[in-house]
Amino acid sequence: MRHQVCIIGAGPSGLLLGQLLAKAGVDAVILEARSADYVLSRIRAGVLESGLVDLMRQAGCAERLDREGLVHDGFHLAFAGRTHRIDLKGLSGGKSVVVYGQTEITRDLMEARAALGVPTIYEAQDVALHDFDGPRPRVTYHKDGVTHEITCDFIAGCDGFHGIARRSVPETAIAQFERVYAFGWLGLLADVPPASNELIYARHERGFALASMRSHTRSRYYIQVPLSDQVEDWSDERFYDEFRRRLPEEVAARVVPGASMEKSIAPLRSFVAEPLRFGRLFLAGDAGHIVPPTGAKGLNLAASDVHYLASGLIEHYRDKSDAGIDAYSERALRRIWKAERFSWWMTSMLHLFPEAGDFVARMQLAELDYIAGSEAAATTVAENYVGLPF
Ligand code: FAD
Ligand code: DHB
Repeated sequence: MRHQVCIIGAGPSGLLLGQLLAKAGVDAVILEARSADYVLSRIRAGVLESGLVDLMRQAGCAERLDREGLVHDGFHLAFAGRTHRIDLKGLSGGKSVVVYGQTEITRDLMEARAALGVPTIYEAQDVALHDFDGPRPRVTYHKDGVTHEITCDFIAGCDGFHGIARRSVPETAIAQFERVYAFGWLGLLADVPPASNELIYARHERGFALASMRSHTRSRYYIQVPLSDQVEDWSDERFYDEFRRRLPEEVAARVVPGASMEKSIAPLRSFVAEPLRFGRLFLAGDAGHIVPPTGAKGLNLAASDVHYLASGLIEHYRDKSDAGIDAYSERALRRIWKAERFSWWMTSMLHLFPEAGDFVARMQLAELDYIAGSEAAATTVAENYVGLPF
């Protein structure tokens, strides 16, 4: 089988890239290791920057997002018994974020792809990348006991942090920068009204907590837990007890404890691979970088990668120019490193680092107090949170 582009991974990066390419008449196939239902069962991001919302509109997939997404003009930082609102809109020249689940983005993109009738191969096993350093790359996979081969012009590695694309690159050709944190986020999803109408990021002596949501009737809550903890250690009751203890009292009083529909622990990591292009292979999204979730940047960074990559590939086919694909890695990495910095900084400021001692704890409080008291400091938080320009 021959296609112009072979995309590995049907997460948000792969699906959004596929949709933008299909709209521009570029022929791309997507290979996904899991089933569509499995992909839809992963509960992840919830906060979208306007850049991602605009891309969904460009892809023709924003009808439900525009209808059901909750526009948030601010969020709260809670620390030392006080709460400070970051006025995103007022401090960023009118920008906001939209609360809309990654699962819904994925579903909308899957449906749009199915409506176009372009190919996605789910449950593709043993995907392997070949010859991407030359003019005729190939991708092989197994399905239903049969080996298949796709020949293409380009491969887009959109297969997440644990995918095969990045691991197919010789070690000598790639530099990897990493910080692993000693804790994770335990997340709980429940059909109960959110405790607060805007997100609350809370720093507490017992550890970080985040009150988020998916809708007016569905809450998404997180607490920092040691990496040694297992989900089974945390009954819903224990989760809500701990979550409430870390929130400001008046918010804790509004937490409605509802049965969890999903509960999972995500480890925290900062990671960047450089470069993001190897001959005719490009990495995009979590395949090339990971941020700790504290700044709500992972999915949004995937979107900016996809924007740069899609426009480069479309330029290649439409205008016979390689300027966009040649610039891809550098353009994407400039934005990635700034989001890495913001996510690392928010993580450092809001989490409990037991081994770091009292001095670091005081620095965190001073930093938060500075943000609460200085418009200049709060402005840099707002500017980064709504998303730096593409
Ligand atoms: P993925 O979503 O990981 O998709 C990769 C796909 O590739 C998967 O479907 C996988 O099955 C497939 N695949 C893997 N290996 C292979 C293979 N060998 N062959 C074929 N297919 C393969 N980001 C935000 O912007 N805002 C937030 O609020 C936010 N909150 C988060 C909260 C949590 C708890 C977590 C865990 C993450 C959060 N993120 C957030 C990050 C965001 O979810 C990720 O950055 C996003 O999923 C990246 O999309 P992706 O398509 O690049 O990778
Ligand atoms: C959510 C996740 C985040 O990482 C974040 O910073 C904000 C919200 C969420 O899942 O709702």
